[in-house]
Amino acid sequence: MRSIMEKQANLNKILKQHLELEAFFAGDFTVKGKIEPIAAAVTEPTTQQEPADMNTLDAIAKKVKGCKKCEIGTTRTNAVPGQGNPKARLMFVGEAPGADEDQKGLAFVGRAGKLLTQIIEAMGLTRDEVFIGNILKCRPPGNRDPKPDEIANCWPYLKKQLEIMQPEIIVALGAHAARTLLDTKQPIGKLRGYFHEYHYSDEVPPAKLMPTYHPAYLLRNYSTDNRRRVWEDMQKVLKELGLPIPKKK
Ligand code: URA
Repeated sequence: MRSIMEKQANLNKILKQHLELEAFFAGDFTVKGKIEPIAAAVTEPTTQQEPADMNTLDAIAKKVKGCKKCEIGTTRTNAVPGQGNPKARLMFVGEAPGADEDQKGLAFVGRAGKLLTQIIEAMGLTRDEVFIGNILKCRPPGNRDPKPDEIANCWPYLKKQLEIMQPEIIVALGAHAARTLLDTKQPIGKLRGYFHEYHYSDEVPPAKLMPTYHPAYLLRNYSTDNRRRVWEDMQKVLKELGLPIPKKK
């Protein structure tokens, strides 16, 4: 049993993190001036030969909601297909829904989601301008790591979402997303900070893929260095998209 003092220390830690978070994003990440809305992607989906049940984002979402390939498909409250602008030039991919996402059926709406929103807004963008999804569409109980067979079962949904949207840039949030999308076992610390390629097909140019730290990791390891690293990664993304880098306050 945790003592009252331990609980109090934990509450103090959460409060301190919250205050630091507010200060940090009101400072380093706050956007000045108006940013032009991100332009719609030029590429139209080329999905004519696909089976009818997977050739639109809505059709994929419907399939995901009915999916029971894994056990987590039976323990979830809601499946979380992902949401945002279907013509987004930029897509964020996380690991798997947590408790809040499972309740609402939406990606990144809990504590980590709040931080992701602040990062997106610090970039001069809104959540509606980007697409936000996950490797797994169902919540692993107790937020445990995704299992390899769950990733294998769920991968076709994300792969198809990517093929339809063909975002120019994919930001992989955390090790699971980065390793799955890049088919590697490298640690996130080695992968982040520079662009990799994600190949859609031989016919279209690959997306640039920037791995960065997962917002939940950032919340747990809220150091100045880690925050700076994520912001540097996002600045590279903005530069690649040809968008202005918002000034620090
Ligand atoms: N963490 C994730 O990886 N995805 C979510 O949607 C929420 C938290």
